[in-house]
Amino acid sequence: MASYPELEDRVVLVTGAGRGIGRGIALAFAEHGARVLVNDLTDEHARETVEAVRATGAVADAVPADVADRAAVRAMVSAAVERHGEIDALVNNAGINVVSPFLELSDDVWERTQRIHHWGLFYCAQEVAPRMVARGDGSIVVISSPAAVETYEGQTHYASAKAGLQMLAFGLAWELGGSGVRTNLVSPGWIETELNREYLWSEPDLRERVVRQIPLGRTGSPEDVARAVVWLCTNEAAYVNGAVLRVDGGLLAGRLKA
Ligand SMILES: NC(=O)c1ccc[n+]([C@@H]2O[C@H](COP(=O)([O-])OP(=O)(O)OC[C@H]3O[C@@H](n4cnc5c(N)ncnc54)[C@H](OP(=O)(O)O)[C@@H]3O)[C@@H](O)[C@H]2O)c1
Repeated sequence: MASYPELEDRVVLVTGAGRGIGRGIALAFAEHGARVLVNDLTDEHARETVEAVRATGAVADAVPADVADRAAVRAMVSAAVERHGEIDALVNNAGINVVSPFLELSDDVWERTQRIHHWGLFYCAQEVAPRMVARGDGSIVVISSPAAVETYEGQTHYASAKAGLQMLAFGLAWELGGSGVRTNLVSPGWIETELNREYLWSEPDLRERVVRQIPLGRTGSPEDVARAVVWLCTNEAAYVNGAVLRVDGGLLAGRLKA
């Protein structure tokens, strides 16, 4: 394992960390001695990750809140700052992925998808970044998706949200970079989590077809993604700002013969 002593005692807020990729990210920061603030929609899921982090000997706190709700995000951040001093890194990871054909898309699914992915970063960054800017130090990592640059069947709303999220992150990189706050994106490919498990198994050979499109020949794990996220928050990435780091086994590098 790489050693990043600069992460020791740093405070990292990970949204949507009750399970999946977010939990993997929380555990990966904990391995380097960071203090992890575990956000999730439900207290129950946040606490499960907190227990897993504490079991490794690291410090963790549950900070449940709906990232799509400005007031809830504000209350979460101010309670976290009161308790832990500063937030050194924000990992904007919370997300949902409801599959729906565009013509059947409900207002509710459209709005919830935009609010959690796109507005979630707007709220979290606006609440967290001012203190980073004032200190002249901080790192924001945004979990994007290949859907930010190409859409998929039944995913128009998700792809739109991820595309907006990506441009918002570029805006932060551009506007906050001069204050010493770096913003980068990690774009995971096919990572098997609850988000897509049902979809991947919805047709008999879909999973195999998906894997055939990945040059490295396998789906990814939350740990694969987490290592990239952690690296972006280290001194080794000191000159990396506004980057999209694809962690997808080469998925977007080419296409199978039609
Ligand atoms: N899995 C993939 O293949 C893949 C690929 C590319 C990008 N991504 C992105 O990676 C991120 C994590 O996805 P995942 O695969 O780990 O999904 P996941 O297993 O479904 O986990 C998503 C987490 O986000 C939480 N969450 C949902 N809405 C929230 C809200 N309003 N406020 C706070 N937390 C909320 C969920 O909480 P509850 O459990 O309490 O509902 C859950 O813990 C997402 O942004 C997703 O778009 C995933």
